[in-house]
Amino acid sequence: MAVPETAKSPDGRAWWTRADLGFRHGQLELSGRVLAELHRAAGGPLHVLSWPRVRAKLAALRGSLEAAGLDARILYAMKANRLEPLLTALALEDGCGIDACSPGEVALARACGFAPEAISVTLCAPSDADLRALLAHAGLWINCDGLGVLERVGRLSPGRAVGLRVNPGIGLGYGDNPALDYAGGRTTKFGVLPEQIETACAIARRHRLAITTLHVHAGCGYLNDQLDRLDQLVAAVLDLGGALEAPLERINIGGGLGVPLTPGDRPLELSAWAAVLAQRLAGRGLRLEVEPGAYLVQDAGVLVLQAVGSDWRGGRRVVYLDGGFNLAPEPAFYGLPCQPVRCRALEPDEPLYTTDVAGNINEALDLWASQQPLPEIRDGESVALLNVGAYGAAMASDHCRRGAFSHWLLTARSAS
Ligand SMILES: Cc1ncc(COP(=O)(O)O)c(C=O)c1O
Repeated sequence: MAVPETAKSPDGRAWWTRADLGFRHGQLELSGRVLAELHRAAGGPLHVLSWPRVRAKLAALRGSLEAAGLDARILYAMKANRLEPLLTALALEDGCGIDACSPGEVALARACGFAPEAISVTLCAPSDADLRALLAHAGLWINCDGLGVLERVGRLSPGRAVGLRVNPGIGLGYGDNPALDYAGGRTTKFGVLPEQIETACAIARRHRLAITTLHVHAGCGYLNDQLDRLDQLVAAVLDLGGALEAPLERINIGGGLGVPLTPGDRPLELSAWAAVLAQRLAGRGLRLEVEPGAYLVQDAGVLVLQAVGSDWRGGRRVVYLDGGFNLAPEPAFYGLPCQPVRCRALEPDEPLYTTDVAGNINEALDLWASQQPLPEIRDGESVALLNVGAYGAAMASDHCRRGAFSHWLLTARSAS
């Protein structure tokens, strides 16, 4: 059944088109590279990440913080994408540090050129061995994610300054998806709760730890409609700062800045975002830290796969690709929208069909997209899955032994 294409912007282009991503001479290009050609050269599933796009996003973020008069440091959350050429390029960027979450990430960041002073670690369930490995990097900053971690850092390294990750019970996240909410209504495993602050202060006193940073990461993928909540979140964290015994020097608001994933989403307005932070922090003499992961890399990366067959089921067409959810798990794990695009441009008046796009993994959740208006996709054609530059390659697994893929960083050919 042919269907109308609904996801177009007023000028008739697809909603996801931008200066560095779109069709040229009938072929889908990212940063001046023809994706189908790169795909052919890779000879199998291909993750590509555009460095010009990442760099432009970093510059925009930095510019908005500076324009708002904030004393701020950007720490790239390397869990989003740890491609080594990316990390090496970021290490050469002025003032870009790293947010790491494990000794392995710290070791990789060091190997790619980041000094310990440029790395902040927020740990999730560290063992003593993890902590010892981290403490070997003199100058590294550690945020403790719970009372137990604080206690163990105190025992292993008394007398140091540390950060405390708090959970004030205000969450953020793409489309209010509870699975992406790290600090809202439901009890999550993250952060010290407001009623535990006193105990945290007692632990700090016992080990002569100075808690000089409060850290919060409230969720992933927030856009403009959640800026009010961001404001409440920062206010709540500042309130908790009043209960600390050492003077608060820094507030780290984690990551979570989102990118548009559907035609209805608008890009995050960075000036409005920075204004919220500037207003809350005005006159307090605090340094701000931000840990963007997805914001920098999600819309800079695509996964290119090959169509390997199609079928008709229940009035819909199903197109099968030679790569499954294990190569970019977020759509399946978190229900995030995924945009498939045929790498060959639409012909004039070419019909569109209601289409499901499925992968090659033996799991019911292995569906890239459902009921999308897509043109005919022939066997052997390249299909790009957009917005998978974050938590795609980084979370990939070898499930069903179908984990092989190439992962390339595109460097500048044309400005983004
Ligand atoms: C502590 C912390 N900081 C930063 C991030 C990066 O989040 P995002 O990629 O949504 O910006 C995460 C993601 O889980 C996180 O847990």
